[in-house]
Amino acid sequence: MSNDNKAVENPGLAAEIRRLAAEKRAVIMAHYYTESVVQDVADFVGDSLALAQYAAKTDAAIIVMCGVHFMGETCKILCPDKKVLVPDMNATCSLAESCPADEFEKFVGQHPGSTVISYVNTTAAVKAVTDIVVTSGNAMKIVSSLPEDEKIIFGPDQNLGAYINSVTGREMTLWPGACHVHSRFSVEGILSLKREHPDAKVLAHPECKAPLLALADKVGSTAALLKYVEENGNGEYIVVTESGILHKMRQACPEAVFIPAPPEVGEGMVGCHCNECEYMRMITLEKIYDCLRNEQPEMMVDASVAERAIRPINRMLELS
Ligand code: 13P
Ligand code: SF4
Repeated sequence: MSNDNKAVENPGLAAEIRRLAAEKRAVIMAHYYTESVVQDVADFVGDSLALAQYAAKTDAAIIVMCGVHFMGETCKILCPDKKVLVPDMNATCSLAESCPADEFEKFVGQHPGSTVISYVNTTAAVKAVTDIVVTSGNAMKIVSSLPEDEKIIFGPDQNLGAYINSVTGREMTLWPGACHVHSRFSVEGILSLKREHPDAKVLAHPECKAPLLALADKVGSTAALLKYVEENGNGEYIVVTESGILHKMRQACPEAVFIPAPPEVGEGMVGCHCNECEYMRMITLEKIYDCLRNEQPEMMVDASVAERAIRPINRMLELS
């Protein structure tokens, strides 16, 4: 993608956003994968679990969710009486898109007697046919809490599902979905960085493929990878996830050396910011300002879908 969409620093605009947020009793939440300037203007920055937990507890009148569409939907389902604004409704998620609700429902029907676990990166309609929602931050814990002989369908991220299967010895039935950003990281690229930086720790998000996770010193959600850096301090880290997380890592550990993992560079990908999620990067200061000022675009979720989707989300929050 071109850099036209990138959020650039604009202190005047950031101050104006903060002023508007205070005036309207709005809380600005952002995911770690958004641009640094977006994270800096937010009241709260977190991984998808922390964002859901924060939304469930906020007493703000308005939530501005700086992230992708499903994150706004989750906020609205958790807070039906609040106004939930998403600065760009076109900020979708390839993983959520890889799991159309009608096809997932058919898949569920083909595996009767299974508990349905869905990753939070799904549409509200998929959550509506789910028993328990999980995030990368709690999936292992929640799956492990179920009886060992429980039949489980896990969707839509097959890499996260396969990783949980490999660690727990479960045989969950996996939906064949994936995230285009995490699927692009290559084993060869990481091995070559390891040769250049033999002492560096490899930190990887579980949405990466299994051969790559096998090289990691730490596999975890964005928050778990950040915590690892905070706990381990200075040193070298090869970071195998969306590069937006580097902003908080650098703030947490300014003396450490962070090496963003290179994705596979294939034909037509030269010049591509391949370790960036172009959807997360659609959120700019200008769009945050406009959406706060106009109180648009507002996230809406069909009431009957929301009524069914809230149950597995609440179940996740209880089990986390
Ligand atoms: P986290 O659960 O680590 O926030 O990851 C969300 C996501 O979109 C990963 O691609
Ligand atoms: Fe979705 Fe992948 Fe972007 Fe995360 S990084 S929001 S899973 S497309």
